[in-house]
Amino acid sequence: TTTWIDALATDALPTDDVIGIEVDGRDIALYTVGDAVYATDNLCTHGHARLCDGFLEGHEIECPLHQGKFDVRDGKPTCEPATEPLRHYPVKIEGSRVFVRLD
Ligand code: FES
Repeated sequence: TTTWIDALATDALPTDDVIGIEVDGRDIALYTVGDAVYATDNLCTHGHARLCDGFLEGHEIECPLHQGKFDVRDGKPTCEPATEPLRHYPVKIEGSRVFVRLD
């Protein structure tokens, strides 16, 4: 079974940017790239930094602490010192709500 969790209103989405939200007690980063929305863990896999404080350019999020980068579409590291992938999660929009699946 799959559980879609109602995470936030589409009105609250940023434009081509990242925000940090809590989904079911987890710290999740939500990214918008054009009309697409992506979700990953918010905590960098390299150290203790939140990616929502970083800089989104296209599909890449740059960590605010050591400037490691990840592809927000699949969580893959694209620039050192980030080497471990981020967990990423399916996102869907239904009506005016954004849903995330954490399983
Ligand atoms: Fe993110 Fe070091 S904590 S690159």
